[in-house]
Amino acid sequence: MNLLVTGGAGFIGSNLVRHLAAAYPAHRIVVLDALTYAGNLRSLADLENAPNYHFVRGDIRDQKLVTQLLADLQIEGIIHLAAESHVDRSILGPEEFLQTNVMGTFALLEAARTVWRDGRTGRFHHVSTDEVYGSLGETGYFTETTPYAPNSPYSASKAASDHLVRAYHHTYGLDVVTTNCSNNYGPFQFPEKLIPLMIMNARDGKPLPVYGDGRNVRDWLYVQDHCEAIDLVLHKGTAGEVYNIGGNNERRNIDVVHAVCDLVDELAGPQPEGPRRRLITYVKDRPGHDRRYAIDATKIRDDLGWEPRFNFEDGLRHTIEWYLHHTDWLAACIDGSYRDYYESNYQGKFDG
Ligand code: NAD
Ligand code: TYD
Repeated sequence: MNLLVTGGAGFIGSNLVRHLAAAYPAHRIVVLDALTYAGNLRSLADLENAPNYHFVRGDIRDQKLVTQLLADLQIEGIIHLAAESHVDRSILGPEEFLQTNVMGTFALLEAARTVWRDGRTGRFHHVSTDEVYGSLGETGYFTETTPYAPNSPYSASKAASDHLVRAYHHTYGLDVVTTNCSNNYGPFQFPEKLIPLMIMNARDGKPLPVYGDGRNVRDWLYVQDHCEAIDLVLHKGTAGEVYNIGGNNERRNIDVVHAVCDLVDELAGPQPEGPRRRLITYVKDRPGHDRRYAIDATKIRDDLGWEPRFNFEDGLRHTIEWYLHHTDWLAACIDGSYRDYYESNYQGKFDG
């Protein structure tokens, strides 16, 4: 199979490409990525010489380029991960989210519709988020039929893209599958997201900014589990169907941060000033902060036989070990633009 992976230089994309390249030596895997602040060729460095991997730098909104790639490389499947993906950035500046997540998905769908006809077919696998379903209270789970209720510019833009993908199946008969997953964690995640941010700041003895009361709940999915689920849905999922993917690992943010502090104390060694939990700083809440996400992953288990393999404690330990051993990778992320973002997102929050 010839596959195009959009956003393959990002967190989940790079893990997925590594998984697919190893699992399917006969597949040709082409990555299309614009290399925004979140895209990093270092995350794919070990694949550079793999014969079944190719990298193309380009924007998913460039419909002409995508059309050409689909036709010339005889692409038979698109796994679409390219996106602006960070909620806090969408609050600071929503426009890029609409441009990439909505118009970018539209451009890909149009390219696919143009090329995959007259006997040529291909599958469009759209990777989305559980955040499109909104926020849960203390109980309940998101299923594939939960009504959409996105609350942030990020989740609203992902919701719009999900609707477009659905519409292209119903209207044009495009072979699409959509997966909505919970919060991923693991190696190669950009250190603006909760877990890598806390690992990096804990390592460096910097304040650990916990939003609000720290009791918001996320359902943590180890990235390798997610990649295996995508692999399964891509190859075995039913056209037009949606599959929720979750880790069965609900945790309050404060409990995640405590666990990170304790593991960094253990793995990096204690600090003379005392345990790293002392660095936890409650800061002003994120506007519109969703309280709880939790996935009911019964459908993908019953229909395709997928279940997560990693429990949170093992996954977190492995993730922290990875970050502590990949200081160069992490240092390369922290350039001037990262510092500017950090400043604008957290300055007002620490001020209370
Ligand atoms: P990421 O931010 O780490 O990576 C995004 C990648 O997309 C980067 O390599 C970036 O360069 C690329 N990109 C951005 N705009 C582009 C454009 N216009 N053209 C081409 N490439 C572009 O994101 P991630 O965490 O790996 O998430 C991947 C996908 O999974 C996203 O669609 C996201 O919405 C979804 N998702 C992520 C999570 C999570 O916890 N990380 C959870 C649910 C869903
Ligand atoms: P994040 O990693 O941004 O993922 P998402 O918003 O997509 O769930 O955040 C995970 C949770 O951690 C979320 O409830 C917000 C919270 N959070 C903090 O408390 N402090 C932080 O510095 C960040 C980045 C997130």
